[in-house]
Amino acid sequence: MMAATLSISFRPMRVGDIATVLDIERRTYPEPWSEGVFRDELNQPSRVYLVAEAEGEMVGFAGLMLVEEDAHVTTLAVDSAIRQRSVGTQLMLELIAAGLDRGARNLTLEVRATNEGAQRLYSRFGMSAVGVRKHYYRDDDAVIMWVTDIDQPEYGERLNEIRALVEERR
Ligand SMILES: CC(C)(COP(=O)(O)OP(=O)(O)OC[C@H]1O[C@@H](n2cnc3c(N)ncnc32)[C@H](O)[C@@H]1OP(=O)(O)O)[C@@H](O)C(=O)NCCC(=O)NCCS
Repeated sequence: MMAATLSISFRPMRVGDIATVLDIERRTYPEPWSEGVFRDELNQPSRVYLVAEAEGEMVGFAGLMLVEEDAHVTTLAVDSAIRQRSVGTQLMLELIAAGLDRGARNLTLEVRATNEGAQRLYSRFGMSAVGVRKHYYRDDDAVIMWVTDIDQPEYGERLNEIRALVEERR
């Protein structure tokens, strides 16, 4: 049976969060970002970084880079102890809402070609594979995914359906 959705809160990432972010980052990615990369990202006005917390403990984070009408997901990670309990989905919902607030109309990202779980999550958000960047990662190719017209009512309906699914699992 599917585990129930956790009660999660979301807020912007701050410089003071970086140490905890790095703990999750290093446990998650074979090529983790450094402290300097996170500091630089948090300094850029075109970025949105969010953390997810359960009972005050950080359980995940996500980032978005805005370039004109395109919102580019730069990172998404959920602590391995609580995966597949909708935290990743909720982080995507929050990121997309922040992107829409800033005028985004399209959403894109790169994902490891072998990362089928994440690709399934992104497909739920209407994203499709449009190309491959060979050797983008040290040991893997990247699939480039896009969804356009996220500011349109049809996409709003999709987001509402995803929100309803998350609620149902509470
Ligand atoms: C990818 C990741 C962020 C997903 O977070 P999560 O909280 O586990 O995701 P959710 O519970 O919201 O999953 C939503 C959907 O994604 C898909 N999915 C997520 N993880 C999956 C897995 N391991 N296997 C298969 N499907 C998976 C499923 O379709 C799932 O829907 P379901 O619950 O109806 O089965 C998390 O697994 C993670 O941090 N992985 C390591 C880092 C990473 O790969 N980040 C993405 C980089 S592009």
